[in-house]
Amino acid sequence: MDKVKSDMSKSRKERALNFLMSIFVNDAYVLAFKNVLDSYKLNPLYEPKMPIDETPRTTRKRSKGEKLFECEYKVIRKGEEVEDAHMDWESSYSDMERQTDVPKPKYYEPKKILDPKPRPVRQAQVAVPKRIYGRPGEEGSKENEEEWPVVVALDFGTTYSGYAFWRKENPSEITTGKWNTGSKEVLESLKTPTSLLLNQNNEVIEFGYKAEKIFKELAEDEDDKGYRYFRQFKMTLHNESLFDEKRPIPDHLKRPLEALEVFSLSIRDLRDECFRDFDNKRIKVDPDDILWILTVPAIWGDSAKQFMRKAAEKAGIPSDQLKLALEPEAAAIYVMKEAKTVFGKGTVTTFNPGTKIMVADLGGGTADLTVLEVKEDRKMKQLHQSAGGAWGGNLINKKIWEIMEEIFGSDVIEDFKKQTSDFMEMESIIELKKRDITIGSKLELPIFPSLSGLCKQDYRTLIKNSKYGNSVKARTGKLRFEPDMVQKIFDLTFTNLFTVVKKVLKHVNAVGVKDIILVGGFAQADIIVKQFEEKFSGYKVIVPIDPVLAVLKGAVMFGQDIDIISSRITAHTYGFDAMRHFRDGDLRSKKRKIDNTIYCVDLFEKMVAIGESVDVGKTFEKEVFASSKEMKSMVLKFYQSEIKNPTYVTDPGCECIGKLSVEMPDLSGGTERSVMVSIKFGETEITVCGVDKTTGKKQETVLDLLRDTK
Ligand SMILES: Nc1ncnc2c1ncn2[C@@H]1O[C@H](COP(=O)(O)OP(=O)(O)OP(=O)(O)O)[C@@H](O)[C@H]1O
Ligand SMILES: [Mg+2]
Repeated sequence: MDKVKSDMSKSRKERALNFLMSIFVNDAYVLAFKNVLDSYKLNPLYEPKMPIDETPRTTRKRSKGEKLFECEYKVIRKGEEVEDAHMDWESSYSDMERQTDVPKPKYYEPKKILDPKPRPVRQAQVAVPKRIYGRPGEEGSKENEEEWPVVVALDFGTTYSGYAFWRKENPSEITTGKWNTGSKEVLESLKTPTSLLLNQNNEVIEFGYKAEKIFKELAEDEDDKGYRYFRQFKMTLHNESLFDEKRPIPDHLKRPLEALEVFSLSIRDLRDECFRDFDNKRIKVDPDDILWILTVPAIWGDSAKQFMRKAAEKAGIPSDQLKLALEPEAAAIYVMKEAKTVFGKGTVTTFNPGTKIMVADLGGGTADLTVLEVKEDRKMKQLHQSAGGAWGGNLINKKIWEIMEEIFGSDVIEDFKKQTSDFMEMESIIELKKRDITIGSKLELPIFPSLSGLCKQDYRTLIKNSKYGNSVKARTGKLRFEPDMVQKIFDLTFTNLFTVVKKVLKHVNAVGVKDIILVGGFAQADIIVKQFEEKFSGYKVIVPIDPVLAVLKGAVMFGQDIDIISSRITAHTYGFDAMRHFRDGDLRSKKRKIDNTIYCVDLFEKMVAIGESVDVGKTFEKEVFASSKEMKSMVLKFYQSEIKNPTYVTDPGCECIGKLSVEMPDLSGGTERSVMVSIKFGETEITVCGVDKTTGKKQETVLDLLRDTK
């Protein structure tokens, strides 16, 4: 038999069908197969279940009657799914002879999940300190952190993610993961896109650049229906005070998958990539020796942070080996520790004790800033609570799409987005062009025939008649944004960002700040640095040489020295709902009679106030008594507020952030029984513990920040 030639001018689906036809040319099935092809539009799916170590079937010798080809089809007629079908093709003696000649059909198998060393599940550490320290008002005592032989940081970004590791054996080096970009211009990248490709069974096909590449191929051949593609999903967690881990995240065809699944599969792949790197470099690492650091924006709520911990745990990272790092803090640690080597643009900064800096992490999703002071012992103290918002670099791309919607119509752009391959191409062009923009630049984008073809009128007329008049112009096959329009596109991000930077710098705690350090991918934009310099001319605006890696490397350094940030400013007032005997002046609506005693309910029992500086390691304690003799457990609902002294948990601006349940099985003490609640606020996550004082038993409890506690 002749070798089957691939005609690259044909679509992959056509090539696959030609290939099948050539195999079965003498086979009785061919007629039926052809009939099926003629009568239906077939959409073959990659069969995903082949075990990773099994020899692909096309190259293996087969016995007669063995399945040669197995394929699932969605049979589509007039754009409608009408039935699922399954086809088996059995081999004959003749195809045993030719099987070595035929090309492999394209097949994407799920990635093998690495489980380097299964270990018993340990008690989750979140919100569960090992010991209870101190009483309110006492000096903070610090937990003596164990020294870890290996630190691995995972920077899980909105747009790009990466990992870096450090080993005690080779203490001077932090190694960063490298990814092949698949492009000729830039071969290697130290971060990879936060893009996840799954098959229909939600098994990982690829993550990062490879996921993008395969998905693009699938989309080009219109074979993407059997796959699920997720990208830039980290922002789902932004602004969530009580995150629901089951919240659906839509794939490229808007089919939902639970957030916990999407995040954990991605984190697992990053983790596995690091283990593969260890293997390739022949580095022996005991998984039990690793301290994992996962980065999160400092401005995120406690619920979102707890969700990330849960996702990491599901991804195979033991909770007691995991710490969360706050992104701008990690960057600050990096620039302080590496001051001699990291500063570019001729600016030298020395971080002598007393130096106060503002660090802004300008990423794809968020602009996240913090203000810190270097102390005598080279530790850092937070001076102002984290601030920022959803004003990352991706907002620029979003704004460009919005303008195109206004010009061409949102239905047109919506339909264009369904032409996945062209849409992806357009996104890449916008991204590349955006990176070249400087003050006074124009922005020119091509108008694909697939886009102009969707327009109800000539695209030139639409542009001309749009509300943007002279600011957006039509050129042959192009859409041109004039400099004033480009500036407007950036202004949306700038206005928000500069307002918050100004507000923070004006705060009394930020007096003495001289340097503004910009990190993150968006800090590479010339236009943003120039605007910062112009708006904040009294400050030195500094961009380190490698602004994209500052968070990642700083996160590793945080893992080497967890106490390096010695105190933090609380972002909210925290407390729990409590009752006490009713007094004059209490709201009548809060009066309740329980066991013949009149109580005032819904009181906001404050543990710490917004803007307070809290030493890392300091524990706040409160004793809470049983309100009834029969109470077998106590439930404390925790609240946060933007107000310094809220009276009731029902006051405006108070939000329930989680609950703590403590069992009180011994009833003998009646209402003299109490629970000692202890909370730590100064660390990157809130940890809480409740102890039933009657039994004397320390009862570790997780403050559940995720479930619905309202
Ligand atoms: N040279 C450049 N000019 C302008 N923007 C850039 C440049 N390089 C990268 N960006 C933008 O930076 C962003 C990505 O930066 P980064 O990798 O720090 O973000 P991330 O970590 O994925 O996001 P986040 O930290 O918000 O979760 C993207 O919006 C990208 O468009
Ligand atoms: Mg980032």
